[in-house]
Amino acid sequence: MDAMIVTRDLVKRFGSLVAVNHLNLKIRCGEIYALLGPNGAGKTTTVRMIMGLLKPTSGEIYVDGIDVVRYPDKAKRRIGYVPQFFSLYGDLTVLENLDFLGRIYGLAREERAKRIREILEVVELTKFRDFLAGNLSGGLKRRLSLATALIHDPPILILDEPTAGIDPPLRRAFWDLFTSLKKEGKTILVTTHYMDEAERADRIGLISLGQLIAEGTPLEIKRMVYGGDLMRIICRGTNSIMEELASLPKVIKILKRHRIGDRKEEIILVVKDFGSALPELTSFLRSHKMEPLLIEPVPVTLEDAFIILTSR
Ligand SMILES: Nc1ncnc2c1ncn2[C@@H]1O[C@H](COP(=O)(O)OP(=O)(O)O)[C@@H](O)[C@H]1O
Ligand SMILES: [Mg+2]
Repeated sequence: MDAMIVTRDLVKRFGSLVAVNHLNLKIRCGEIYALLGPNGAGKTTTVRMIMGLLKPTSGEIYVDGIDVVRYPDKAKRRIGYVPQFFSLYGDLTVLENLDFLGRIYGLAREERAKRIREILEVVELTKFRDFLAGNLSGGLKRRLSLATALIHDPPILILDEPTAGIDPPLRRAFWDLFTSLKKEGKTILVTTHYMDEAERADRIGLISLGQLIAEGTPLEIKRMVYGGDLMRIICRGTNSIMEELASLPKVIKILKRHRIGDRKEEIILVVKDFGSALPELTSFLRSHKMEPLLIEPVPVTLEDAFIILTSR
């Protein structure tokens, strides 16, 4: 698939601080890519460089094939951007805010009106269009800032912490919105420090201290932690079979094993993937006359993954 945003060996220093440290990103056409990391990880600095608002110390950036460092204005037109701290004109209405931006982008009156009508539907702000932006709730303000990024119908959206500080149901609604924008064909780069919502991205880049420490689908990232899925088995008297168990084709290793209660044992295995390991393990245990009391997957959260991968 074509890459819409590419950074090559991107570095940004502020004095002795390395805010972005040799970052190589490739955001594909039509995907939702979440740059996920705690405060201070370097997300905003990266985004500002991609937007051509901050000059890299070194490295290259391409947006839809355009060299951002050399042609920042040309690249910017391909992107709808919502900065982390966005400010609207509080004494203009929702409609006026959008109309004003539409003019800046040089949209003709008719086209502007049509586009604004469409966007208000997309972000579900139609019934608030005559409200003063300054009177909107936090969540609605966020919707309006997203709307402003859509006014010139850009193929790429870059959203810097669009859900920071809003409550979980609203965050979910925002991700629903991102998904529908993706269905329209947009490429979305979204930064967040919320591990849970990043699950909804197609791919995640985990960033810590300016470095990309892992990248992949949410499932791939979770599998990186242990090299596979985790499986919990509770069984009786497994001493005699442990070696054989560990050497089964789908078993990567035995992570933990300990007694629980009377002659029962809990074993945590790393398996290649839970779905195909389950029948293998079940029939293996049965063939040794060991009816397992329980076999279940052990969920690994992105938060676990983040903590374990950053500590390596
Ligand atoms: N203009 C600046 N001058 C000096 N240091 C900065 C500047 N902007 C960001 N930083 C530092 O760079 C690091 C990354 O910041 P930032 O990109 O804002 O992280 P994030 O968006 O992931 O929270 C932080 O340590 C921050 O203090
Ligand atoms: Mg930031």
